This record gives sequence, C-alpha cells and structure tokens, in this order.
Amino acid sequence: MINWWRTGFNNGESEAIAQAIIHEHVSQGPVVAELERQLAAYLGVPYVVATTSGSMALLMSTWVLGIGPGDEVVVPNRTWIATAHAPFLLGAKIVLVDVEPDRPIIDVNLIEKAITKNTKAIIPVHLCGRSADMHTINQIAVKHGIAVIEDAAQALGSRNADGFLGTQSDMGCFSFSVAKIIATGQGGFIATKNDKLYKKLVAMRTHRVGDIVNAEWDQPGFNFRFTDILAAVGIEQLKLLPGRIEKVNKIYQLYEEGLTGLPFIKLIPVKIAIGEIPIYIEVLCEYREKFIEFLAGRGIQCRPFYPDLNYARYFNNSGHFPNSEPFGKSGVYLPSGPEQPIENVREVIMMINEFGREICE
Ligand SMILES: Cc1ncc(COP(=O)(O)O)c(C=O)c1O
Repeated sequence: MINWWRTGFNNGESEAIAQAIIHEHVSQGPVVAELERQLAAYLGVPYVVATTSGSMALLMSTWVLGIGPGDEVVVPNRTWIATAHAPFLLGAKIVLVDVEPDRPIIDVNLIEKAITKNTKAIIPVHLCGRSADMHTINQIAVKHGIAVIEDAAQALGSRNADGFLGTQSDMGCFSFSVAKIIATGQGGFIATKNDKLYKKLVAMRTHRVGDIVNAEWDQPGFNFRFTDILAAVGIEQLKLLPGRIEKVNKIYQLYEEGLTGLPFIKLIPVKIAIGEIPIYIEVLCEYREKFIEFLAGRGIQCRPFYPDLNYARYFNNSGHFPNSEPFGKSGVYLPSGPEQPIENVREVIMMINEFGREICE
C-alpha cells in the first residue's frame, strides 16, 4: 500500500522522550521553553508560544485580540475548517471570501468588500506552503484598523520575498499534527513580534494566573499548555527540517515532470523557486472518483480535498464562491510527505499515466 502521506520518527525522538521522562520533564517546563527558543531563532522572531495544536494556536490568537459576539472575522473559503472554528467558537461571525482563480489562496481583491464596521480580523491561510499576498492584506488591515492572524499551519519553513510565512502579521499560527512537515503527533505554536500580545498569550495559556498565591482574577484564561514530552519530539524533528524541505521539493519536481502533458490532471502550483514549500501534492482531476478508485485498486491511496467552508451551514454564508468550487469538487492529494519513498512517487506517476491510457480507450 502506498499511503497518501508518509512521515517518520526515529531513535532521536524515542531517546528524547525517554530523557524527558527520566528527568521528570513531563508537563510544560524547560523542554517546551527550549523548543520555543529554537523555533523563534529559526523563524527570526522574538517570541514563540507553544500549545497543544494548531487549532489551539488559532483559538488563543483570536481570543487574545478580544474577539467575541458581534465581531466579524474574514476567512478564505478554502482552508481546513479549524481556521474558522476558532473565531466561531468565541461567538464571532465568519465572513467567507473566495480564493484566487488558480490557487486556493484568499483573493485579496475581494477582502475589502467583506469588511464592515464589525470586522476585527483577517485570517489569511498559506495553504500547502503557498503565500497569501501579505503586503496587500496588511495594507487593508492598517487602513481599517483590524488585526491579521496568519494561518501558517501548512507553511513552516515556507517563504515569500519578505521572509518566512507566519511572521508577517500580528501573529502566525503553526501546527505539529501528523500530516505536517515536522510533527509531534499533536502540537502547535504562535509566532509573534509583538511583546504585548506575547505577554497576554503566555498569561492566557495558564488561566491568566501568573502568581497562584496572590492571584488577581481580573480576566479568564485557560489551560493551553504544551508538554515537555512532545516538545522533546519537536526539538528532534526540527533537526530534520532542512532535509525534509529538500525531500518534499524533490517529490514536487518529480510529479511536475511526470504529470506534464496529461490533459485530465493539473498540478496546483507551488512556487518553490521563491521558497514556498509544497508539503502536499495537490492536483485537480476531472474524473476524481474514478481516478481515486483506479489508484486504490492498485494499492495507491489518494485523498479528495475537504469541502469548501460555505458548505458548513452553521456559518450562514450565502455568498457565491466560483473560484473555490473547482478545488472542492476536483481536488485530490497525491501520495507525498517527507518520508514518502521516491520509488513510491515514481510508481504513482506510472499508474496515473496508465489511468490516462485507460480513459482514452
Ligand atoms: C490550514 C490549517 N489550519 C489549521 C490547522 C489546525 O491544526 P491542528 O490539526 O494542529 O489543530 C490545520 C491542520 O491540519 C491546517 O491544515
């Protein structure tokens, strides 16, 4: 079986977990602090706040801005639904905006039309390492006095001309879940350059109680703490990041070459020349169900894209999203991931070509 995603953990990670336990570093402590320090150094930001998932990072970021009932948050119609669930759980209205015609990335030309006097934040999503147009988004945000939170869950290590994605706004949210370039099973973090937000995030992560004995119960927080055991895995995985970036770029290039000229399949582009990292191999396929079934019959697992967010009825968005639709209806993830053997990729390309011959007959 060739799985749609392959990642991996090595002796380094198991030894690091054992060490954390031997030293009784099990809850949030010095290992989390060290992971935060290393991530901040890698991204070139002063502050990183680790937490239990990318979803939690998004929830903390929206909550720390005071977003709640009566507020509106602008979200692209194509993303993993976690992006919208964070502000939604806080009581905000989710305002969906369509994506660019050729990339599942928020169309900045449509953002201003979606802004009202109640808008508090825009959450652009760097889906599959692709950069949203941060220049324009930040300009719009300054003009309207609203915040920007980058959802960089799928973009650790990805760059545009201005540097790392997730570092070009008020806060950037990242994920360490399994289908990410490096993983801790569950985990995530927020990167920020803003010391006021950083202090509030740190306080919020422990119920906003810095001093348990002399607690002043002025504002609520929650338990958003990460664990040293998983941070130990994160530190080991971070060492693998440069090699993994090379590997996923190579996989992308192989698919790009191998799928050229096939009329029924189109690779959704990632600009690796400018530093975007294609963590997934995303294609549009005219005959999606038939295609997935054909490959499954040959031991190759693919995944259809998740539906567009306007299908989540509880967001009550009645808009029209013509650019999102082809992605939601024809999108497929081909087998990829940092530990996907190259011979698997070659096999998948061969089988896709065979599918092409079959549908031509
Ligand atoms: C775009 C996007 N946003 C947010 C998340 C949420 O991250 P997590 O699964 O760590 O909660 C993910 C994870 O898959 C994601 O892909």
